[in-house]
Amino acid sequence: MILNPALISTALLLQQAVDKTKWKISSEPGSFLFPPQASTVAKDLDDTYYMIQNWSIFFTVLIFFVLFYFIFKYNRKTHPIAERTATHNTALELLWSVPPGFVLVYMFWRGFVGYLDLREPPQDSYQISVQAQKWSWTFKYPNGAQSGELHLPVGRPTTMTMTSSDVIHSFFIPAFRTKMDVVPGRYTKTWFTPTKVGQYIVECTEYCGTQHSDMLAQVFVHTEEDFQKWVYEEANWLVKLKYADAEHKVIRPDFKPAEAGKRVFDTFCTQCHRADTQKLIGPGLGGVFGHEVAFADGTKQIADEAYVQKSIEEPSAQIVAGFQGGTSMPTFKGVLQPDYIEVLVAYVKSLKDVK
Ligand code: CUA
Repeated sequence: MILNPALISTALLLQQAVDKTKWKISSEPGSFLFPPQASTVAKDLDDTYYMIQNWSIFFTVLIFFVLFYFIFKYNRKTHPIAERTATHNTALELLWSVPPGFVLVYMFWRGFVGYLDLREPPQDSYQISVQAQKWSWTFKYPNGAQSGELHLPVGRPTTMTMTSSDVIHSFFIPAFRTKMDVVPGRYTKTWFTPTKVGQYIVECTEYCGTQHSDMLAQVFVHTEEDFQKWVYEEANWLVKLKYADAEHKVIRPDFKPAEAGKRVFDTFCTQCHRADTQKLIGPGLGGVFGHEVAFADGTKQIADEAYVQKSIEEPSAQIVAGFQGGTSMPTFKGVLQPDYIEVLVAYVKSLKDVK
């Protein structure tokens, strides 16, 4: 298929380079060059790749064999300058043009048919929207669920509609052989049907800044039943925690926003922020709330709820001193639901005494 074979081969190397203690990957072995085949297109794609590779090896060996054979056979000692050299041989020319021509057309046909399959999502496919930003992935499901890991039902065609908040990223699941650029200001699509329950990873394959190589996300392929359970739970956990009634008007007396906020923090923020005072990519969030924050422009402010919320929704408005010059955090406004931002603020507040 029309996919850069070198990139596919690097997939396995990347897969091996991934930190196995941090990322769960199904241990099913792949082939010599490829990770395991976990989507419907994977086998056809690998077969096409091997077909092209094997034809190339066959012709390379054949041509070199003939070349060295002639060098040896017609060397200058046994064959002093020939008096008569052939100038033209129609049969020979047809032989080396027509059969390889058929091979090339066959390669093109396999690639083209496979490419059309990859580009055209089935009408009734499951829809997940993907938001890429430096340096994480956010996945949104039709029922409102949101996650930093990708959860999928096995055996169901799934379309990913993707966009980026900042620069160009590229969405790649090696085990699915699925790869598509994710571009700011426009939507791109890719689709696949996972065939095996298991754990895989999404990799970013477009250089997007210093943490590009860490821009990974865990993929979980579930049975349909498990997936329905997961996606329902994920869409409703905060509502269930927060409200005592079905109309969502009465807040539970025992609702602890900071605890709910920790869950949001662990899902969406830990790529760049720690809950203590240590700097990761961005500042540590421990001991920030209620204390004075110094900004790059020399101004200062006591961090209150409004400041924390503004930092999440308009991060570039106030850059903390020591973090200027780099790229600021992308906005999470519209990326995270308002409910999530609210509990996140409560969580940052709960970290006020962390030293
Ligand atoms: Cu995102 Cu590389």
